[in-house]
Amino acid sequence: DSKRRLIIVSNRLPVGIKRMAEGQYDFSPSSGGLVTGLSGLAKGGVEFLWYGWPGIEVPQEDMSHLKEELLHKHNAVPVLLDQKTADHYYDGYSNSTIWPLFHYQLDKVLFNEDTSAAYRKANQAFADAIAPSLGHGDHVWVHDYHLMLLPLLLRQQAWKMNISVHLGWFLHTPFPETDFFTILPSKTEILDGILGADVVGFQTDEARRHFLSTCSQVLGRSSIDAKILCSGRQVVVGTYPIGVEPSEFHSRLQKDCVQSAIRAMRDNFRGAKIIVGVDRLDYIKGVPQKLYAFDRFLETHPEWVGVAILVQVAVPSRAHLEAHQELKAEIQKLVGEINGKYGKVNYVPVHFLYSSIDPDELTALYAVADVCFISSIRDGMNLVCSEFVACHDQKAIQSSHESISHGTLILSRFTGAASSLDGSLVVNPWDQEECAEALAHAVSIDADEAHERMRKLGDKVEEQTSAHWGASFLCALERVGKVEVLDM
Ligand code: UDP
Ligand code: G6P
Repeated sequence: DSKRRLIIVSNRLPVGIKRMAEGQYDFSPSSGGLVTGLSGLAKGGVEFLWYGWPGIEVPQEDMSHLKEELLHKHNAVPVLLDQKTADHYYDGYSNSTIWPLFHYQLDKVLFNEDTSAAYRKANQAFADAIAPSLGHGDHVWVHDYHLMLLPLLLRQQAWKMNISVHLGWFLHTPFPETDFFTILPSKTEILDGILGADVVGFQTDEARRHFLSTCSQVLGRSSIDAKILCSGRQVVVGTYPIGVEPSEFHSRLQKDCVQSAIRAMRDNFRGAKIIVGVDRLDYIKGVPQKLYAFDRFLETHPEWVGVAILVQVAVPSRAHLEAHQELKAEIQKLVGEINGKYGKVNYVPVHFLYSSIDPDELTALYAVADVCFISSIRDGMNLVCSEFVACHDQKAIQSSHESISHGTLILSRFTGAASSLDGSLVVNPWDQEECAEALAHAVSIDADEAHERMRKLGDKVEEQTSAHWGASFLCALERVGKVEVLDM
């Protein structure tokens, strides 16, 4: 069907919008793995219209101009929410109920009737925004925990319009064990919402298993071969691990500005062993755990004091949340303590940046780093580790005039990436001793071992790209409806 279209729906659009002077708007790239994955898919040649919340309330008079700009420059359509609904839906239910629950952070989970009502309202607003442009045969791919009710709402809309659409939903986070999920008062509504899709996708087999057993225990809907029978339809439940586009990093490494940034960083950190961390400032990333481990490493391996440095980029994210502010204060305190304890006039052990960083500078930073330390206490996948690998693999070395160090990855076992990336030093971020030893191993690793590890990692990152992720999910979505199954 040549008229078939692909519609992508996510809370976050690829660009963030800020209102400057009257009627003037500033667009800047959004942060996070979802945008990285989907942008990779777009660069791979897949065309789609992208619906999402612009992140701000837009005055009526600026609306048409903004919509035009989003459509023409980013293929994006804004879904508008009033400020109160947006706050309750985004800061509230999505990021203070679902996010901590899905990452097993029970002490951070807040329940509130207002936020759960706003979540419903926002999901309905997405459905209403998409409905007028929905056409027979369209493929709609909904993303993430903000929009778990949307698949069913869109299915009901398609029924009303008497058209057939292919509906997919993909979760970028972990899906928790049933005991955790069933803490949610709206557990049934959410599962029914997700099962409105034809294809439901997860990052890992573990998340998929948790979802299947939750559907069976909560809804009494069992599965055969990871297919759930649902009102005359079958819902395919699959694992589709997301990735990055390594070739983007290889081409960036060829840019003059990246090469000169590498030289400048090398000059600045002459003689140092550089450990890098790049995370949104989020408690799931385990940044305090990373700092404790670095402290322990310097304490137990004093020969590295004066030589090893940790460059930690913390990208501001969901900054309105109390949890964010508390975490920021905790991290700043730990950074201050470590720098006070081990610092010298000419040696600052932890370089802490609270800002986002542009892709060229990020590429240079990955390339000069000897070690990348991912310490997440839970993480759906984690793409930073794959980006680090893409800056140290064979093609990266060939792309760069400046020499590139071998690069060792320390990876928390609580990331989705740990189940698919072979070749890293896998650690438990809660175990300070183990992490300190992994750091000691990584900074003094034998070249042959490092090369062998990076070879394995590079092969996997080259295979598990965002293009591959998108193609496998869309292929499953394409096949929908080819086999009809009756409800049992
Ligand atoms: N990133 C970003 N802005 C920055 C630094 C990094 O957007 O200033 C990107 C980074 O390159 C990676 C993504 O954010 O592609 C983080 O994805 P990941 O899956 O590691 O974690 P998430 O933030 O989605 O939890
Ligand atoms: C994670 C979520 C994404 C989200 C991203 C950034 O990757 O899975 O849905 O877009 O974090 O968070 P933000 O709240 O800024 O969109």
